[in-house]
Amino acid sequence: MSSERSSFTGKVGFVLAAAGSAVGLGNIWRFPYLAAKYGGGIFLLAYVILSVTFGFSLMVAEIAIGRKTQLSAIGAFRALDRRFAFVGPLASIVPIIILPYYSVIGGWVMKYISGFALGQTQRMADSGYFNAYIGKIGEPILWFVLFIVITTVVVFFGVEKGIEKVSKIMMPILILLILGIVIYTVCTMEGAWKGVIYYIKPDLSHFSLMTVVAAMGQLFYSMSLAMGIMITFGSYTKKEISIEQSTHQIEIFDTGIAFLAGLMIIPAVFAFSGGDQSALGQGPGLMFVTLPKIFHSMPGGTVIGITFFVMVFFAALTSAISLMETVVSIFMDRLHLGRRACCLLVLGISLLLGLLSTLGYSAWSEVKLLGMQFLDLFDFISNSVLMPIIALLTCIFVGYFLKPGTLIEEVELSGTFRGKHLFSVMIRFVAPVFILLILLSSVLNAFNIIQI
Ligand code: PHE
Repeated sequence: MSSERSSFTGKVGFVLAAAGSAVGLGNIWRFPYLAAKYGGGIFLLAYVILSVTFGFSLMVAEIAIGRKTQLSAIGAFRALDRRFAFVGPLASIVPIIILPYYSVIGGWVMKYISGFALGQTQRMADSGYFNAYIGKIGEPILWFVLFIVITTVVVFFGVEKGIEKVSKIMMPILILLILGIVIYTVCTMEGAWKGVIYYIKPDLSHFSLMTVVAAMGQLFYSMSLAMGIMITFGSYTKKEISIEQSTHQIEIFDTGIAFLAGLMIIPAVFAFSGGDQSALGQGPGLMFVTLPKIFHSMPGGTVIGITFFVMVFFAALTSAISLMETVVSIFMDRLHLGRRACCLLVLGISLLLGLLSTLGYSAWSEVKLLGMQFLDLFDFISNSVLMPIIALLTCIFVGYFLKPGTLIEEVELSGTFRGKHLFSVMIRFVAPVFILLILLSSVLNAFNIIQI
């Protein structure tokens, strides 16, 4: 079996591939709107603390499980302990839920590329533009379908390598662009500095339990944890590669880009709205409402707008490809169907679920489950329910059944594991208790049993 597995050529290959999957809409679209909504600096602080303790430990655990078993999530848990075999299939539900709504947002990105290309910068900078757009029935569906079809074509014909090459060139350009936009807003826009302070300085009065709930869900999402993806990546990794060092690098890269995206968007929100709470709390539309305003106010904003959204498109596409690849390979293993048949099956499911998400903003905007529209509901089920459950089960399994020592040994195949004490304390004690609390409070909150 292991001789058939492809493996990354080296450490750089592994870190880049994992970073390519990790960096996507989660960093650029999701992180800034959560940070704006849930307290700015205090959210950022909670996120960073969670990332270096809990995120680190979980990522090391997943990569080490994959490398040890040389299997993807479904096989890996079964191979290590039959009683935990169910965790694999459970983890594989997550990408099935995320891929469709991820593609809906990918569609929004494509619409914005076309909007700038058609010279509609001024119209797009209008405050009502975004909501009017997602409130339409036809167009958002078309863009969503286009995005998921492009993703399927790439996976169907197996041309991911080409796309990854392109996106490796795009990533540094994207970072430079974000930096440029940050400098532009902070230096030229009145009121932006207040936003920088809101974003960077932790203010306890903005803290609520939701700050931690949101930060934790975001951590799973952004680092592609708790859905088996890092287990698969681990299974492709050679024994001489340092899991600890690679994890740190992925973490720094992923969090760094999210941080910059927040710095690009939040100060601009302040500049345009004077720090009005409703502007900060607007949720998924934040990036799409704020960025066109910045581009409209900039010299050469139209060209910058096109370039920016094209880069975001590639970041989103590589993540969508890795989501789809995961689902397709699960279906291939389970259903014993060919790769292409599975691609079409995944496309069909995604079209159906994604359609719900787009219509949730238009024709079915009155339909609410647990007070949420479909897109928010899918996001909630995956990030606030399923992923915490999978992370909890992973911690209990590694902490009390497999034992942390087994994975520490795996990590130490390539040298000392400096964070091993942190790792075992996190996995055994801190993380399980913490995740359980978060899970309970977010679910009780959704059912309106408690208010957090
Ligand atoms: N981590 C990706 C992002 O931040 C989303 C993703 C999750 C991609 C899981 C692949 C797998 O956008």
